[in-house]
Amino acid sequence: MAITPNPYKTTGFLGWIDDRFPLTKIWKDHLSDYYAPKNFNFWYFFGSLAMLVLVNQLLTGIFLTMHYDPSAENAFGSVQYIMRDVPWGWLIRDLHAAGASAFFIIVYLHMLRGIMYGSHRKPRELIWLFGCLIFLVLMAEAFCGYVLPWGNMSYWGAKVIISLFGAVPFVGHQLQVWIQGDFTPSGATLNRLFAFHVIALPLVLVMLVFLHVMALHEVGSNNPDGIEIKQHKGPDGKPLDGIPFHPYYTVHDLVGVGVFLLIFAAVIFFAPTGGGLVIEPDNFLPANPLVTPAEIHPAWYFGVFYAMLRSIPAMFDTQIWGVLVMFGAVLVLFFLPWLDRSPVKSIRYKGWIFKTALAIFIVDFLVMNYLGMQAVNPLYTAITRVGTAVYFAFFLLMPWYSRWDRTKPVPDRVSFHGHGGSQRVTS
Ligand code: HEM
Repeated sequence: MAITPNPYKTTGFLGWIDDRFPLTKIWKDHLSDYYAPKNFNFWYFFGSLAMLVLVNQLLTGIFLTMHYDPSAENAFGSVQYIMRDVPWGWLIRDLHAAGASAFFIIVYLHMLRGIMYGSHRKPRELIWLFGCLIFLVLMAEAFCGYVLPWGNMSYWGAKVIISLFGAVPFVGHQLQVWIQGDFTPSGATLNRLFAFHVIALPLVLVMLVFLHVMALHEVGSNNPDGIEIKQHKGPDGKPLDGIPFHPYYTVHDLVGVGVFLLIFAAVIFFAPTGGGLVIEPDNFLPANPLVTPAEIHPAWYFGVFYAMLRSIPAMFDTQIWGVLVMFGAVLVLFFLPWLDRSPVKSIRYKGWIFKTALAIFIVDFLVMNYLGMQAVNPLYTAITRVGTAVYFAFFLLMPWYSRWDRTKPVPDRVSFHGHGGSQRVTS
């Protein structure tokens, strides 16, 4: 039976493939004919960097799994074996451990970029929602991974976090035992967290990233001006303010990759424990149910959420309020596209109210994150209570202050400063 020739008129081996699989179509639709705004700045590096770190985590994770033993008896020892005896094992483990921290730095900056330029606004709500789901799964993935070395902080971290489920009314205790598979974190717990960490959650994560990028390519990227480039097309139907993703942004992103790898390599080779932030001092000791670390706290990237949890007192005989506030802090992100009522998308054209609110939010986030890692004391508790209120106020008061704000007129076309000079090129 004759085959209808593919529309790209490719020949040879590629033609043979294109007759059977849309390879050239995918290449064109998503790379060489995918038009992205020409005014991307460094904030647009973080999406591709997040992908790079995801690949790093998947690849190094495969090699770690080859030598790791998920049993309570051998888990700690198998990590020491990887660090000392497996050829290049130390590098693989440090790439994976530092990769987790890098992932969160990159994802936080990626989310901040979205908030700054209004990338969550219509028509990109779904990109944002997939992003929020990615963030949730990433948190679960990082928590499971943190437990695997079965160091003393892994053990006590698992105990604290799983016991949060114990605060659920009526069924809390049963839920906690069910999740743990035991009355306390044990080999059963370690095994299931291992299963989640190496297969279930990475699978979901990769699928969500695929959906995230598909949603992005359906509507097209936003940009630092928050202007829709599809509204100004040339006679050839291509956006006047757009450039093909490949080769322009594939090459542009390489700059971000280079800078990132320099910093990443510096951490791996000169400060692999990240001063105790990448690998906790208490995790150099094996898990010991009889010895509680002086101060139990989660990995640094959960500091904000942990600070909120600790700041809310038990009321009516239950700790559930802190747990609800902590989950609420992630949940509220899902509503952002509908909370922001500003007539403009980008911070460039927003007024002082939004700029001040965002600046306060960023300082609040950093302070809370720091305090979440410190030992509790009455002053810090008082500050984190105010900090929690400020965090929620930023989101929940947005429908009002984003409307009152005095915005500037948005130009028709994107503003772009070429690297060669300071002239403003608009066509
Ligand atoms: C594994 C984690 C993630 C990966 C690999 C990833 C990947 C990407 C990529 C490649 C892009 C396009 C390039 C760019 O705009 O920088 C992008 C855009 C975007 N991402 Fe993510 N992302 C991740 C997590 C998130 C999270 C957690 C959020 C928000 C909650 C988010 C929200 C967005 C938004 C709103 C855009 C559109 C930006 C624009 O057009 O201005 N992403 N993402």
